[in-house]
Amino acid sequence: MAEEAILRFLQNNEQITDSGHFAAEFNLDHNEVVNVIKSLHGFRYIDVQDLKKETWVLTDEGKKYAAEGSPEVQLFLAVPEEGSISKDELQKKLAPSVFKIGCSQAGKNKWVEMGKQVSRKIQHVEDKVKGQLLQIQEGKDFDRDSISSLKARKLIVPQIWKGYSITKGPNYAPERKKVATDLTRENLQNWKELEFKEYNFNAKGAPLEAGHLHALLKVRKQFKDIFVQMGFEEMPTNNFVESSFWNFDALFQPQQHPARDSHDTFFLKAPSTTRTLPEDYVDRVKCVHESGGYGSRGYNYDWKREEANKNLLRTHTTAVSSRMLYALAQKPFVPKKYFSIDRVFRNEAVDRTHLAEFHQIEGLICDRGLTLGDLIGVLKDFFSRLGMSKLRFKPAYNPYTEPSMEIFSYHEGLGKWVEIGNSGMFRPEMLLPMGLPEDVRVIAWGLSLERPTMILYGIDNIRDLFGHKVDLDLIKRNPICRIGI
Ligand code: PHE
Repeated sequence: MAEEAILRFLQNNEQITDSGHFAAEFNLDHNEVVNVIKSLHGFRYIDVQDLKKETWVLTDEGKKYAAEGSPEVQLFLAVPEEGSISKDELQKKLAPSVFKIGCSQAGKNKWVEMGKQVSRKIQHVEDKVKGQLLQIQEGKDFDRDSISSLKARKLIVPQIWKGYSITKGPNYAPERKKVATDLTRENLQNWKELEFKEYNFNAKGAPLEAGHLHALLKVRKQFKDIFVQMGFEEMPTNNFVESSFWNFDALFQPQQHPARDSHDTFFLKAPSTTRTLPEDYVDRVKCVHESGGYGSRGYNYDWKREEANKNLLRTHTTAVSSRMLYALAQKPFVPKKYFSIDRVFRNEAVDRTHLAEFHQIEGLICDRGLTLGDLIGVLKDFFSRLGMSKLRFKPAYNPYTEPSMEIFSYHEGLGKWVEIGNSGMFRPEMLLPMGLPEDVRVIAWGLSLERPTMILYGIDNIRDLFGHKVDLDLIKRNPICRIGI
């Protein structure tokens, strides 16, 4: 319809000066006309020039008054021609907003006498506001003064109207030719008669629907790459369920330790206990807890096998490290660098920075004669590869490391020191019962994957990163990689 009208019109006329007027004249929808113009212009049937005009449109409130009359006139009409009406009575007759606005406008216009009783001062009023609104609605001309008062009353708002003036283009024809768009056998056979649509080499392809990596997986990959570049081997972490023995006892964590309470740890109902543990090693662990050895006095309490047998959801990946170190101790000693990145579980109150499950990143180096200096050096190397070169260390406590250090990094964006991890040297009470040689030291550190990911991707609520509230669009749009925490 619109296409036919435009092309026919241009056959006999130089130009269409205003697509808006054209649409009104031919009773066409202007939006439809604009779409056709864009398409005809694309094929160069027509040349166009942009037109822009400021017009006014009614707000919802304006539309209401255009239909029902202005509040001041509604109020005026509710006041009896003779005598008066009490203000309360009048209020009951009108909608609250109509009453409020009506009172002030009708008072200002000196149409009514406002007091406890309301009476008319004149007998006839004209609803100019409604008239003006209707005029604007119909796109007619109107005077500047009424515009500013309607604008001040928020009954109208400005709107930019966009249209075109149109002339014939280089490919003009009174009717659109169907152009061939595909290189089919038939089209190639009579290519001489056909007009082919030009290729648009600038057109963007349709976005491919594909899977997207979650931000945690992307940052995990970055950490993995760093560990691998530094010569670390990945530990097998495929056991979310662990026994208390490997999670706590092997790490010289006493059985009364608060972390071993069900308020902090998820214990399993079924199967509630582990089946097998290496018995002679269990005996040595019992011994070191109860009475020490290897230069330690131990904790001096009755170590209970039942406690060690209890199954739980591992609370840290250091449980995996303890298994790996034990396995290492069963063979002639070779130095090792191990890492793991996987999920751990804690019975914590969930808030914007804590969930009951998260990912831990853990690294450890085991070799003869390592010192705290080695640990600090490795941490500096490791974190500087993540763009964190300003580090500070603070003495801390872990049952399985001595000395222990919390790791802080200066965050340029946040302008402050933030805690990024925990570290230490595993205690002899942990390493010697395993059977590792006496001069072997193990330096280790751990951090969460969520914290750096949140900093990197600018997320401040962990529930936006993990769980059912995560916005899938965010995952699709996130950059592949981020460097420099
Ligand atoms: N396991 C510690 C934690 O859960 C991290 C850690 C790992 C600390 C290795 C010291 C050595 O926070």
